[in-house]
Amino acid sequence: MKKRYFIGGTLAIALCVIVLYAFAANESADVPEADVTGQQTATTVSHTGGKVLVAYFSVPETDGVDASSGASRLVSDGKLQGNTEYVATVIGEATGGDLFEIKTVHTYPDTHKELIDAAKKESDEDVRPALATHIKNLDEYDVVFVGFPNWWYDMPQPLYTFFDEYDFSGKTVVPFCTHGGSRFSDAVKTIREMEQGATVLDGYAIARDRVAGSKDGILNWIGKIGMKKQERE
Ligand SMILES: Cc1cc2nc3c(=O)[nH]c(=O)nc-3n(C[C@H](O)[C@H](O)[C@H](O)COP(=O)(O)O)c2cc1C
Repeated sequence: MKKRYFIGGTLAIALCVIVLYAFAANESADVPEADVTGQQTATTVSHTGGKVLVAYFSVPETDGVDASSGASRLVSDGKLQGNTEYVATVIGEATGGDLFEIKTVHTYPDTHKELIDAAKKESDEDVRPALATHIKNLDEYDVVFVGFPNWWYDMPQPLYTFFDEYDFSGKTVVPFCTHGGSRFSDAVKTIREMEQGATVLDGYAIARDRVAGSKDGILNWIGKIGMKKQERE
């Protein structure tokens, strides 16, 4: 009897190790940074003269290591930033755009396990968390970059609230994300469905273990889509 328990227990442990390994392998997969989805409508921004907004959502975790080891934060110029926040900052500088942080009324846990659980619950229940920050002068912007981390193979639920709240018709939306291996999942397709009057570019996805060294790649991409500040002036 004891022996049967021992064999059963060993099999269960082996199964867990295989499942965990598969998830970890997927998370750190060496994938290209640029995400290519179907439904491509445009590869460059056609009206580049107007103002640019860089909206982003980011939740830096406090118990991770640095981003080069695959966590969710990095220190740039002495400032602790979330991965997506850092990318937003680089895009803001390169385009001359205004930064806008998408914040929720409730606060997410900043420790990894608690954040994973809270985000899973919100995703399972498809909730729309109330937002604490709102764009006041959307009319002034022609191009809106929107950045977020991939959470549970999707955009975080606050992004659903965000796209519910605004109508980006007539504008160009440029998605960007940071991720652990899943790139955008289906988020760009979802954004196109939610913002049918907007031109939604394919966007740019950066693996979290490459965020710290991503500046040149971001600048190159910004140039390719015709959004470099100097070239628009
Ligand atoms: C709640 C949660 C869920 C996540 N789910 C995924 C996922 O499904 N696929 C993936 O590639 N990465 C996933 N990640 C990794 C994040 O996308 C990645 O660490 C990201 O760079 C975090 O960005 P931030 O620091 O701006 O919040 C998840 C991270 C968290 C905290």
